[in-house]
Amino acid sequence: MKENNRLFCCPICKGVMDVLAEGEVVCGNRHSFTIAKQGYVNFLTRAVRSMYTKNLFESRKMVIDAGLYNTLHNEIAKIIGNSATAILDTGCGEGSHLVNVCELLNDEVVGVGMDIAKEGILTAAKYYEKKIWCVGDLACSPFREQSFDYILNILSPANYGEFNRLLKNGGKVIKVVPQSGYLQELRKQVFAHSEKEDYSNEQTVKRFYEQFLDAKRHRITYKMPIEKELVPKLMEMTPLGWHAETGAIDLNEVTIDLELLVGSCKR
Ligand SMILES: C[S@@+](CC[C@H](N)C(=O)[O-])C[C@H]1O[C@@H](n2cnc3c(N)ncnc32)[C@H](O)[C@@H]1O
Ligand SMILES: [Zn+2]
Repeated sequence: MKENNRLFCCPICKGVMDVLAEGEVVCGNRHSFTIAKQGYVNFLTRAVRSMYTKNLFESRKMVIDAGLYNTLHNEIAKIIGNSATAILDTGCGEGSHLVNVCELLNDEVVGVGMDIAKEGILTAAKYYEKKIWCVGDLACSPFREQSFDYILNILSPANYGEFNRLLKNGGKVIKVVPQSGYLQELRKQVFAHSEKEDYSNEQTVKRFYEQFLDAKRHRITYKMPIEKELVPKLMEMTPLGWHAETGAIDLNEVTIDLELLVGSCKR
């Protein structure tokens, strides 16, 4: 973190931050945030209750580790190319998407993950020491303006004003949203004949196109075989409450159907 001092600003007063050897991140107005022994910083300025649990993030990690999103990681890395120096994943959860993408990029790239759920960041810091992990709120993020070449926003809420503030000139956002086929085999069995089965993201796409320059959309759809043991993890990796007897779910493949929205900073 010390080497990347320049990325941070105080989430309270927006002042410049200094990373002190004593394990504190402090601004000129003495707002101070502790670097936890697990290797992350909590920048939240108010208590936040998240519905995302430790169990959910551990399950998400197992599903991502099983390779279900490798194609997505390759697509994102292809878009980023080799010249990025700093990437921020907003709503990074347990951090595996950021880590997998960074592994496909140049060794120098600095990867920073932020999530409002402390359990997600704790899980990320536990498994991946070499990235910068922050508990923080997108509405009030602890980063300096024009700091990042790319912002990732994968299956998470967004704050486009903040993204435009944080991106360098010419920097880009890559937002990933689910499409109608996403995990359809699972949803069909859990929500048979329920309205929860459907996704519509046209409003999201419209807003994205309004907020960023040269916006483009790119859909990726593929099926992945799935081991039986992973089915309960798929059920546990979402807070939507996909309650069903996992024994009753008969699944040997799942569809990944996602849209990547890519747009440049409006500056
Ligand atoms: C569906 S999860 C996706 C996590 C991860 N990107 C992934 O795909 O595995 C949505 C994430 O957004 C985070 N989130 C929600 N509101 C947020 C906010 N205001 N600031 C930062 N993160 C937020 C949640 O805590 C959660 O980890
Ligand atoms: Zn401050």
